[in-house]
Amino acid sequence: MKDIIFELKDISYGYVDGGKKRNILNKLSYSFERGKFYTILGPSGSGKTTLLALASALDHPEQGQVLFEGEDIRKIGHTKFRRNKMAIIFQKYNLTDYLTGVENVESNMMIVDKKIPGNKKELAYKILNTMGIVKSKADRNVNKLSGGEQQRVAVARALSKDVPLILGDEPTGALDTATSKEVIALFRKLVKDYNKTIILVTHSDDVAYNSDVSLRLKNGLLEEVRWE
Ligand SMILES: Nc1ncnc2c1ncn2[C@@H]1O[C@H](COP(=O)(O)OP(=O)(O)O)[C@@H](O)[C@H]1O
Ligand SMILES: [Mg+2]
Repeated sequence: MKDIIFELKDISYGYVDGGKKRNILNKLSYSFERGKFYTILGPSGSGKTTLLALASALDHPEQGQVLFEGEDIRKIGHTKFRRNKMAIIFQKYNLTDYLTGVENVESNMMIVDKKIPGNKKELAYKILNTMGIVKSKADRNVNKLSGGEQQRVAVARALSKDVPLILGDEPTGALDTATSKEVIALFRKLVKDYNKTIILVTHSDDVAYNSDVSLRLKNGLLEEVRWE
């Protein structure tokens, strides 16, 4: 039996623009399995960011349901869901720029409800190290790190909460090809070694090709991409 961790069910959503309603998602449904790496492709304006906003409870569908482990996230509670079940990584990293790398990671650990055992700072250094950020860099203000390094800190921060679901909105979009490849390798490692479920919006066919399942957002629906 498939182990479905996350489900979008008959989701509809639109924006009112100039007094006119425009539908972006039209009864979209998809079930995501635990321990798989998904990518979502689609042209600019197709609704990818809107979809992630609904998936991460930043916004709410007009119709339909978002289910985590079979439970409607409204029932779990949007804040609880965001805090304890998922993490999101953005193209622009969204790090706190006046803190060091290790402080960014450590402060994120404080927000989960479950108790993280042991010394948080040591654990933060350890996670950063796994992501290729050594101590001397982890102690630097994040705005003194390269783009690739900042994104590694953002991935480490997402990991620090130890949540099963990681979403990303073009997290490699601001990185050069080599760095992007390294970050994707890290995502693959998270799926393989930690059984995380990752759903990344990407513009890159190359990133999509390297995921377990590629989806395309088209006419408000998700369809699986078959590579020739
Ligand atoms: N707050 C908003 N109000 C009105 N229209 C919006 C709003 N946000 C996004 N849109 C429109 O919805 C469509 C989908 O946007 P978005 O989800 O950002 O697409 P993508 O991430 O795929 O580029 C676009 O046409 C965009 O202009
Ligand atoms: Mg977008």
